[in-house]
Amino acid sequence: MMTAAVFSRTVTRGEDGALSVGGVDVRELAGRFGTPLYVVDEEDMRARAAAFRDSFTTAFGRHGAKVDVYYASKAFLSSKVARWMRAEDLCMDVASGGELELALRGGMPASHIGLHGNNKSDAELRRALEVGVGRIIVDSFTEIETLDAIAREMGTVAPVLVRVTTGVHAGGHEYIATSHEDQKFGLSLAAGAAFEALVECHDAEGIDLRGIHTHIGSQILSLAAFQESAERMLGLRAAFRAEVGVDLPEVDLGGGYAIRYTPHGEELTPQDAAAGMAEAVAAAVEKVGGSWPHLSIEPGRAIAGPAGMTLYRVGVVKRVDLDEGGERQYVAVDGGMSDNMRTITYEAEYTATVASRLSDAEPALSRVVGKHCESGDIVVRDVDLPHDTARGDLLAVPATGAYGRVMASNYNSVLRPAVVAVRDGEAELLVRRDTLEDLFSWDVAPD
Ligand code: LLP
Repeated sequence: MMTAAVFSRTVTRGEDGALSVGGVDVRELAGRFGTPLYVVDEEDMRARAAAFRDSFTTAFGRHGAKVDVYYASKAFLSSKVARWMRAEDLCMDVASGGELELALRGGMPASHIGLHGNNKSDAELRRALEVGVGRIIVDSFTEIETLDAIAREMGTVAPVLVRVTTGVHAGGHEYIATSHEDQKFGLSLAAGAAFEALVECHDAEGIDLRGIHTHIGSQILSLAAFQESAERMLGLRAAFRAEVGVDLPEVDLGGGYAIRYTPHGEELTPQDAAAGMAEAVAAAVEKVGGSWPHLSIEPGRAIAGPAGMTLYRVGVVKRVDLDEGGERQYVAVDGGMSDNMRTITYEAEYTATVASRLSDAEPALSRVVGKHCESGDIVVRDVDLPHDTARGDLLAVPATGAYGRVMASNYNSVLRPAVVAVRDGEAELLVRRDTLEDLFSWDVAPD
């Protein structure tokens, strides 16, 4: 029996009512690796990476144009994930020195890596040049000057894209929209800063200006927003050609494709995104003239998110009366805001299901909460769970593969969960659970 569309593709419910994923029963996973546990459906994640690669290659290929897909590793990264992405012929976007090292550790060639960040350190810039990353996306005039100086000092030339703020406002929560004017990222198209930065890079001896980059935000459903941003970017490229006489070879249109978190949620599929964006770029090239650029995109959430779920063990179940009448069932699990920061940070919506058995009890209006010392510690705000949900049940929360483990904390000195990949009946650790020894290793004990 299949479960709701929001779970990853290999999730099934067996005759006895328990879920399995990648051919492995969740009860076995919980027993072997403990809970909370992040479970990644490897086949699903790799298929999503391949879907972006194939859809964009086909849609842009119709116009004779090339596209590279950079997996935005901030969504979820381990060195084995870097290995998978390489095997799927993807490149990788990293946003810090740490992400860079994990990508390299997994065998991602430096030439396939793009380094991001609005405030990269000298050490990060130096290391990127030392290993030979394919591109550094510069975000400010300070960075252009710093990078130019470091590259010249090292006797090398830095391959650069300039991050452009296009003014297209898109994305779910304010904290994840990135291309409106009043925020920290990029150089403004409207105010002329982007153009000025391009000229500076073009003139800098230590910089090889490869093109322009934009990222308009995250969890975006609107194809029109992506299209508008593509048009503005090609307009900038045309203006640069007109004034400086150079056709910038590369244009990166960023990530941000929305995924479904709940059964009533919506998504922007790679197929629809590819077709719509190729159309917009074709129209813009037609309008402004010049050659087609080499394009790239940077999906993160849409590759990792739907492929992951979190398994929790139910501890305490409480019923409280509501002012408006009726009651709410509070289901407390053995994790919470330390393993899923998204509910409290962005008021993100999730769903949940009892994963270890089938119940024929009446559904009860429920809230899944964690074990932390604050009332905002909510994993799923509203969900129907069986009235007989009880201590010992396993609960599965789907679509937690992106921005879950990577944003986890040790709040209340909890031990961050492991991440396990499942495939064809086998389970393999990607990230091990924190241990008490880990906690002690960063605590400096009294003499
Ligand atoms: N490229 C750049 C330059 C980015 O800054 C990001 C995300 C991406 C690509 C990937 O975006 P995606 O395809 O994953 O939406 N913690 C937030 C999301 C922050 C996104 C930051 N940048 C969340 O949990 O919703």
